[in-house]
Amino acid sequence: MGKVFSTIEWKQGKVRLIDQTRLPGKLVYIDCKDIKPLWYAIRKLKVRGAPALGIAASLGVVLGLKDSTARNFSDFVKELDGIIRYLASARPTAVNLFWALERMKRTALKNAKRPISQIKKILLKEALSIMEEDKRACRRMATFGARLIRSGDRILTHCNAGALATADYGTALGVMYRAKQEGKDIKVYVDETRPLLQGARLTAWELLQHKIDATLICDNMAATLMAQGKVDKIIVGADRIASNGDVANKIGTYSLAVLADYHKIPFYVVAPVSTFDFALKNGRNIPIEQRDPREVAEICKKRIAPKGVKVYNPAFDVTPNALITAIVTEKGIFKRRPFSKTLRRLYV
Ligand code: MRU
Repeated sequence: MGKVFSTIEWKQGKVRLIDQTRLPGKLVYIDCKDIKPLWYAIRKLKVRGAPALGIAASLGVVLGLKDSTARNFSDFVKELDGIIRYLASARPTAVNLFWALERMKRTALKNAKRPISQIKKILLKEALSIMEEDKRACRRMATFGARLIRSGDRILTHCNAGALATADYGTALGVMYRAKQEGKDIKVYVDETRPLLQGARLTAWELLQHKIDATLICDNMAATLMAQGKVDKIIVGADRIASNGDVANKIGTYSLAVLADYHKIPFYVVAPVSTFDFALKNGRNIPIEQRDPREVAEICKKRIAPKGVKVYNPAFDVTPNALITAIVTEKGIFKRRPFSKTLRRLYV
């Protein structure tokens, strides 16, 4: 199950990213050598997907500090705090971004006694460990998740929770790659995922690279497919999971979960532990990103709606835990019985 491309890398002092806004037309890599273009790449979804955002943010800290002239630790931390605030302002929902920034801050504080030049090196090492851990987590999630897949399964997925969203081969899609590798015959339905079409542009492209039998549908066709008995399982990723198992993910995930419940179809979420926000009791307080109205009023930058119409454009929704059959993490499969009990194993 080889990885066909590298979504995010550290290359000679630069962050190399696939510009996902150019896919599937062109596979273009961009090099960010400063923090500002990296912030912009996050904001504009050139790099996207919760785990990849965590990795990008941690490497962003390294870029932000590279020219630091701080002479003592207290000045260095002031700069670090400014950099963290700046990167944290890029996107609000995926908790991996904040988790990675906090981890970078903790690492700096733990090494306060060392010379600044050495702390910078330690921070780079920490960012690279975040990336390596994500790769290992992807593989473990794939192994656990593939146990849920039977040969012949027809799986529906939403948005892109694949290699393009992680440093390795993804969360939800990783499960499919592993199932295929194990010789299981699977078919995947891909929601186009309006407004930014991560399903049509990214997931469809990725699945074809991995030679998975993929069929693209418009988001509003999912109910019909389910009613026709053509969907055996739904598997999606997550941007933030509260302690009780409520899941924030790409807008449209909640409607799929409601449909799955009605049609008695298992609904699985695959996400690393870094996507959990144990500070939140439930999903009510998950910040939901509101994006530019033009994303809805236009398709691929071409205006489709009349000028002057009001637009509502939340990028994520929250699926209540009661609609989720199980959450797959690198630490195993957590069933709903209820999640507030089973998920405790992850944080106590
Ligand atoms: O707005 P995006 O493209 O960053 O949203 C991404 C998603 O919603 C993914 O499903 C989620 O981050 C999981 S990625 C493994």
